[in-house]
Order: sequence, then structure tokens, then C-alpha cells
Amino acid sequence: MTHAVTEIPTKDCSPFLRWAGSKRSLLPTLQTFWTKKHKRYIEPFAGSACLFFAIKPPKAVLGDLNPELIATYVEVKYRITAVLKELERLRPANKQEYQRLRAVDISTLTPSARAARFIYLNRFCFNGIYRTNLLGQFNVPYSGERCGNLPKEEAFRKCSRRLRRARFMNSDFERVLQQAAKGDLVYMDPPFAVRARRIFREYDPSTFTHEDIARLRSWMERLDAARINFVVSYAESDEADVLRKGFSHQVVSVRRHIAGFAAHRALTNELLISNT
Ligand SMILES: C[S@@+](CC[C@H](N)C(=O)[O-])C[C@H]1O[C@@H](n2cnc3c(N)ncnc32)[C@H](O)[C@@H]1O
Repeated sequence: MTHAVTEIPTKDCSPFLRWAGSKRSLLPTLQTFWTKKHKRYIEPFAGSACLFFAIKPPKAVLGDLNPELIATYVEVKYRITAVLKELERLRPANKQEYQRLRAVDISTLTPSARAARFIYLNRFCFNGIYRTNLLGQFNVPYSGERCGNLPKEEAFRKCSRRLRRARFMNSDFERVLQQAAKGDLVYMDPPFAVRARRIFREYDPSTFTHEDIARLRSWMERLDAARINFVVSYAESDEADVLRKGFSHQVVSVRRHIAGFAAHRALTNELLISNT
């Protein structure tokens, strides 16, 4: 078991999305799991897919339960020029424009305009959080001026080229894991689990529960039995103890935002559990 504090590296391709729970600060350690023997990369909880963008796999499967996220990846992959055109129409960012766009009925938009809206709201929302109300409408407040600009056109085009190596699945992680085969590296970065399934399920279908931790654990065992390499990242906790049992793991310290204020950063421990 090793213990290290990591720093965010400079990379040649950064994700174009901000994502709550992104493991960007773990990249120096995470990247070491991708080796020459791996032919394909699989990430069933993709979010901003920071490891995918960092390692340049020749082939990949990226999955997530969030339909708007996956639809955005597909648009950026196949129709980047149209997405960029739509983004041009939305600049510059301010609270009024953010709130106008957030209130738009997405069923009235073309797929490229919908992706541009998703990217814009993601960039300028509070902390890169994705949350919807009971009607499934995005309801995260404006972040203020703090989160910088949208990525530049060339950065989007680079991401688009990278995404051409990936296939996308909008589904529960089990369906994505059914695709895994020997020679793949599977990286699993689930959300932190909550206890009360019934309370939260109705509000947010992507809420992860203790039942989901049990499903994940059983998939780790299945992958291991099939000799498929995996790595799981999870905050040090009782759930992490369930996940790591019998597998090797390392502890990595990361600086985290507390309550969204940059001045309040604390060191927390993240476990990287693997069978490599
Ligand atoms: C911690 S984030 C992943 C962050 C990602 N590693 C990154 O680089 O940004 C977890 C993701 O899992 C997704 N998710 C939640 N429950 C899921 C499920 N049952 N199956 C698949 N994806 C799920 C969420 O929508 C979210 O995008």
C-alpha cells in the first residue's frame, strides 16, 4: 500500500467538461494502470472521462447513466462544427444568458444546439454539478464569473478527434461491463453511495446506493475471474472497505473543495483498488 499526494499534471488533451467528482488530481497515478498490453479502455461511469482523454487509448467504450451527457459526447464526436457554431451564438457568459438557456425546453432544440446548451451550462454552473428537478430539468445555479471561459475551438476539435476512438453507451454500468474482454482496462469511478435508496431514487436516477455497491463488488469479482484488468477509485469509507477486500489497493491523498469554496480545501484519501 502506498500513500502519495498528487498534483494535476499538464496534459495534451483535457476534458471539455467540468465534472463533480472528477478524478483529475489522481491522473498521475491512474495513468500508470494503462500499459502496452491493454488494447481497449472501458469506463462505465464516464462523467468528464478525464482518464480517457489523458491516455489516448486506440479504442474505448464510454458509458454513463446521464442521457444528456452521452448525447453531448456523440454530437462532439460526429458534428463538432455544428456544436461550435451553436456555442458561438451563446457567448459571452452572464447570469441572464445562463438562466435563459437553463429554462429552454430542450425538446425544441436540434441535437447540436442541445449539446452546446449542455456544455455552456456545465461550464458556468456551480462546481460542475449535474442535478435535475422532479421533471428532469437541470436546476443548478449560475457559478458567477469564477469558472473561466469555454475551452477554445482547437481544444474542442482535439477532443472530437479523440472521441472518434470511442463508442458510447447511455446505460447502467452493468450493461457496459458486459462488453469487457481480456486485453481491456476497465476504470470504474462510481459516485459516492448514499444510504436511503427510496428517498433519493425519485429525485435523481443516477444516485448510487448500497445495493449498487454490492452490484459493483460482484462485477469486480467477475472481471477478476475472467482475467480482465480493472481499477476502481473510491473515497476511503466503509463502502471502500467492501470493495477492496481481497484486491490490492493504494491510498492517494487528494485536495478537495469543501462546500465549493476554493479557500477551503482539505486533503482526503482516495483508494485505488485493482487486480492488475
Ligand atoms: C464520479 S462521476 C465520474 C467522474 C469521471 N471519472 C470523470 O473523470 O469526470 C460518476 C458518474 O457515474 C454516473 N452514474 C451514476 N450511476 C450510474 C450507474 N448506475 N451506471 C452508470 N453510470 C452511473 C454519473 O452520471 C456520473 O457521471
